[in-house]
Amino acid sequence: MVRSKLCFGNWKLNKTPQEAQAFLADFKELCPEGALKHFCVFPTDLLGGIFSKESLSWGGQNVYFENTGAFTGESSAQTLKSMGASHCLVGHSERRSIFGETNEILNKKMKNALVQDLTPVFCIGESLEQRESGKTFSVLKEQISIGLEGVDLKKIILAYEPVWAIGTGKAATPEMVKEVHDYLRELCEEPDLPLLYGGSVKPVNAAELYEIKNVNGFLIGGASLKADSFCEIFKNMKVV
Ligand code: PGA
Repeated sequence: MVRSKLCFGNWKLNKTPQEAQAFLADFKELCPEGALKHFCVFPTDLLGGIFSKESLSWGGQNVYFENTGAFTGESSAQTLKSMGASHCLVGHSERRSIFGETNEILNKKMKNALVQDLTPVFCIGESLEQRESGKTFSVLKEQISIGLEGVDLKKIILAYEPVWAIGTGKAATPEMVKEVHDYLRELCEEPDLPLLYGGSVKPVNAAELYEIKNVNGFLIGGASLKADSFCEIFKNMKVV
């Protein structure tokens, strides 16, 4: 199996169209030749129109499980797809904690994203309290067993993002990442399922985290907002 090398950027609620255009101009200069296929960014839906296949793949940060109807403020997987999106995030910890999304709701979102032919990136992770009380594996197992119930694991991507590592500058240690990713590989029983790590990934820690066998790429927040740090992370992802 060829080891995948996915460099995904979660822009969250950042960037005006002008800033996104400036990013794309820098990215075009800095993206190593032939590497475009490894990248994807998740901007707000409003910015979707500025991306093209030639510039950079993009995806939604959230999709609802219905595609049309009286759901004010929600985001449609069908519309994202027709705008050229290839992926979507499902269950990012900010969606879970700020917007109250449960594993049951996320399961419906996963299924609808697949029907719409988007590749969903299912995000899971434990809080600091859960880690400190020894519940990491049981939390992850529950997120997976409910969130991915009936979902074809050959068509999705899984992202492990410990909540305490997101936006804090404190990435999980390589030992922690290895332990969790090995566990996820075994639990999912799907050798081709790409496993991403997310949570304070930066150019300085990308190399040692990507050395871990079951890490197939990263979901990057803060460091994906600038084309130089985003591309630098990619360049540091080397199989040794
Ligand atoms: P971070 O965010 O890289 O800024 O920690 C990661 C994420 O939220 O996906």
